[in-house]
Amino acid sequence: MSDQTNTDLREEVRSRYAAAARAVLEPDVGATASCCSGSAIDPCCGAGLASEEAVGGFSEYLYREGETDGLPEEAVQASLGCGNPLAVADLHEGERVLDLGSGGGIDVLLSARRVGPSGFAYGVDMTDEMLALARANAAKAGATNVEFRKGEIEHLPLPDASVEVVISNCVINLSTDKPAVLAEMFRVLVPGGRIGITDVVADDHMSAADRAAAGSYVGCIAGALSRAEYLDGLAAAGFVDASVTFTTETVPGMHSAIIRAVKPSTA
Ligand SMILES: C[S@@+](CC[C@H](N)C(=O)[O-])C[C@H]1O[C@@H](n2cnc3c(N)ncnc32)[C@H](O)[C@@H]1O
Repeated sequence: MSDQTNTDLREEVRSRYAAAARAVLEPDVGATASCCSGSAIDPCCGAGLASEEAVGGFSEYLYREGETDGLPEEAVQASLGCGNPLAVADLHEGERVLDLGSGGGIDVLLSARRVGPSGFAYGVDMTDEMLALARANAAKAGATNVEFRKGEIEHLPLPDASVEVVISNCVINLSTDKPAVLAEMFRVLVPGGRIGITDVVADDHMSAADRAAAGSYVGCIAGALSRAEYLDGLAAAGFVDASVTFTTETVPGMHSAIIRAVKPSTA
């Protein structure tokens, strides 16, 4: 893709998610932006906040009953993911966690709870309106071990080897430079660190044209990697023990998936 096309796509993504954040921040204004399905607060790719019929047999990868209790309503409403990265990241007390494309902050706030006061949860997002929503949600939640930083996931605003875990929920498919994102995840992880990600992933037989026909870029479909592309990209970035596991078929040939990998402890 040309640089101009990439810039246009990124601006389209930013504007779509800015409108989604405004719909939660200012519900009376009547923002009409949509994500995947026409509602500003629907999950990006169809399977974020759990209803049993939406998730079929894969509910163990979504927010469990009661898991979001105590979070500000706006954080829950703004959830635009396609899974529950916390359910796959297996966070421990004291760990430092980074959420790529943190949106309204739901996974950062849940991570902060999980890692406790001796741990820390960072969120990075490029959209000012999402950052404003996430910071307001953190203040409402009284979370003191969180920080939301403005930035692009292709150029993370964190030092080398600064977190034990990278999570992300339905964002990497939106990036116009996925090799840069995978390399940045590797850079900010400590040796032995891990990723626990949920994303939309295509069947390997789906061509770029098939993916574009299946759904829009801003709706998290057209820009999705295939499983083989994900695994190759993770290996090229230096990750080991990588896996891509399909959970729910969102549209034919396109899946919500969980992605795990480890940065070697000798790296
Ligand atoms: C589908 S929403 C998911 C938000 C959140 N992870 C959740 O589960 O609710 C995508 C988010 O990623 C952000 N985003 C998309 N592309 C990005 C990029 N290249 N760099 C930083 N943030 C990005 C958007 O601003 C938006 O907040």
